[in-house]
Amino acid sequence: MSGPPAGPAAGAVTRRHLLAVGDLGTDGIGQILRLADSFAEVNARPIPKVPALRGRTVASLFFEDSTRTRLSFETAAKRLSADTMAFSAGSSSLSKGESLRDTAQTVTAMGVDCVVVRHRSAGVAVQLSRWLDAAVVNAGDGRHEHPTQALLDCYTISRRLGSIEGRHVAIVGDIAHSRVARSLVAALRMLDAAVTLVAPATLLPPAVDGWGVGVSSRIDDVLARADVVYLLRLQRERQERALLPSLREFHERFGLSAERARRLADHAIVMHPGPMNRGVEIGAEVPEMACTTIAEQVANGVSVRMAVLFWLLGAQPGTASTADVAAAPAAEGASPAGVGGG
Ligand code: NCD
Repeated sequence: MSGPPAGPAAGAVTRRHLLAVGDLGTDGIGQILRLADSFAEVNARPIPKVPALRGRTVASLFFEDSTRTRLSFETAAKRLSADTMAFSAGSSSLSKGESLRDTAQTVTAMGVDCVVVRHRSAGVAVQLSRWLDAAVVNAGDGRHEHPTQALLDCYTISRRLGSIEGRHVAIVGDIAHSRVARSLVAALRMLDAAVTLVAPATLLPPAVDGWGVGVSSRIDDVLARADVVYLLRLQRERQERALLPSLREFHERFGLSAERARRLADHAIVMHPGPMNRGVEIGAEVPEMACTTIAEQVANGVSVRMAVLFWLLGAQPGTASTADVAAAPAAEGASPAGVGGG
């Protein structure tokens, strides 16, 4: 993803929300990945902050547990100089019977430009986008979509391997309950990567025929030709019944042990969105092996979420491009260099 950063050009698609990866199209994904490159450069500075979203407010509405996604969005917003508001379901008036719609409208009545929402029910982000004037970013809705995770994963693949097109990505584990898998497959297919899903039949979604992917129940058949092995944990909070004989058997049949990792091609990488369960989907010592990108995914997540927030709120057709943002002095109070939303 090298080359000069290109801001969203005048005439770029109208965008108000990021609800699903498919909304972006190939061009939108490309724009965000290029923007992320500019923000990665900002993040490497001693003071990793630009004034691009000064005066804007980003609220995170998390109705489901999260560590990295929530902190990542909040860090991204702060590094763009936006104001942030955080909401946790447990300590809110939801426990007093307030509806989701009333809660969300209360938050946005405080002057919020963007709502980042996570919820255990599929479709909540779309619903909020109809109710609210603010831009909505889907940070995970049930087992449906998690578009920024897919974008940061594509960014990581691209940085590590130099390209996505024509690469072979094996996604291994609990695909049936995974919003990460749905968004990632959609993004990878749009970018012309080949995907193989590796899982027992009980952990595959009911209708993968339309996904445009290969399917295997034998990880050992797939490893040698994979450029990327992407591991998913067993999402037991979404499983309604026992789907596996035992964790030990799952690890033996589908887990990426160190021995299996050593059989990968030299250039191949091992990815995981977190949280990981060592000794189940991933061998206990694999996260520390050089082929894994887990820490890079987290770091890249901040750059990619800065790109998404800037793409939604910062650059309107006719205003300056991200080249100006990245070039702007890092110090607080520096000129926003003509970027909209200052
Ligand atoms: C994922 C999620 O919440 O969907 N985690 C994340 O956002 N990094 C994956 C998971 O929970 O297994």
